Amino acid sequence: MIPFNKPYLTGKETDYIKEAVSGGKISGDGVFTKRSHSFFENRFGFKKCLLTTSCTDALEMAAILINIQPGDEVIMPSYTFVSTSNAFVLRGAKIVFCDSRTDHPGIDEDKIEALITDRTKAIVPVHYAGIACDMDKIMDLADKYNLFVIEDAAQAIDSYYTGRDGVRRPLGSIGHMAAFSFHETKNIMSGEGGMLVINDERFFERAEIIREKGTNRSKFFRGEVDKYGWVDIGSSFLPSDMIAAFLYAQLENLEDIQARRKEIWDAYYEGLKPLADRGLFKLPVIPDFATNNAHMFYLTCNSLEDRNKIIALLKSHQIYAVFHYLSLHKSPFYADKHDGRDLPETDRYTDCLVRLPMYYELNPQMVLDVLKTL
Ligand SMILES: Cc1ncc(COP(=O)(O)O)c(C=O)c1O
Repeated sequence: MIPFNKPYLTGKETDYIKEAVSGGKISGDGVFTKRSHSFFENRFGFKKCLLTTSCTDALEMAAILINIQPGDEVIMPSYTFVSTSNAFVLRGAKIVFCDSRTDHPGIDEDKIEALITDRTKAIVPVHYAGIACDMDKIMDLADKYNLFVIEDAAQAIDSYYTGRDGVRRPLGSIGHMAAFSFHETKNIMSGEGGMLVINDERFFERAEIIREKGTNRSKFFRGEVDKYGWVDIGSSFLPSDMIAAFLYAQLENLEDIQARRKEIWDAYYEGLKPLADRGLFKLPVIPDFATNNAHMFYLTCNSLEDRNKIIALLKSHQIYAVFHYLSLHKSPFYADKHDGRDLPETDRYTDCLVRLPMYYELNPQMVLDVLKTL
């Protein structure tokens, strides 16, 4: 049996959890949370990182930080996870869904400008499969219309964008803020988990407060105030240090994990190229400006029927492939709130995309089994 996903343990997770427990402080912002923050700040140059209990939480924090008010409009792809949009809907935003690119499920950057109105407050690009959106185009629009950009980098750890200045920047470091996920399906995981990256210094102080139930407790812990109290809205967005301990064990193995996933990805790509050349389905496209963090291997089939056949065929060989997002503009919750525009590329990915098994322990024989079955 080849499952779709299998969480990979590097070996140190439980040692670090024990260490956190024996250190006597297992609530949030303990030793392992600080180590994880430093890891990200040093390795990727993120200005400020705050671990959260999920990417969903990080997105909710971002929505509070940019002060989303009822009626504000937020532009994002419809082909995304529900949290991308729910986080803003919770603050009263109207979501303006944008279609996907023809060559890639990410937002079609060239269709964004036509959606901007006086009420638009933010753009939320989603780096689908860890592949960068064309951030220069998006940041240019943000500058022109004075908008915030929140990168949904749930799948985008250790992935990069090269802009027109030729500089290669890690995803998550480009928008005003970014949200990462460490859910067990991600390259680096802690079961549930996430992180808010803040690149705009204006949000540093308030982000700490919102994450700590609307209090200035973080300042108190650093000895900057002699008591802490309720100063803003907020919630409990910080994870216990046991979660951070698990995460840190994974982070220490980032390179090994990424190398293995890339091997699997390349083996799929090479093995399936002859079938794609015959037009049976399309392989993922990595634009010149993007790197591949091997988060996901997906095929875009020619029809819903083809996609269903592939899933059923693989399943009959005990290989579990899955489809992905159901477009949000047609969801039971949002369909009657959507402005009615057709989003044909989004619909196509909803119908035709299939994700193949992808996890560290998928060995070459298993990859071969998938390829032969296909
Ligand atoms: C694009 C995107 N955004 C947000 C999330 C939510 O992440 P989490 O499960 O960590 O809240 C996901 C989950 O997979 C996702 O794919």
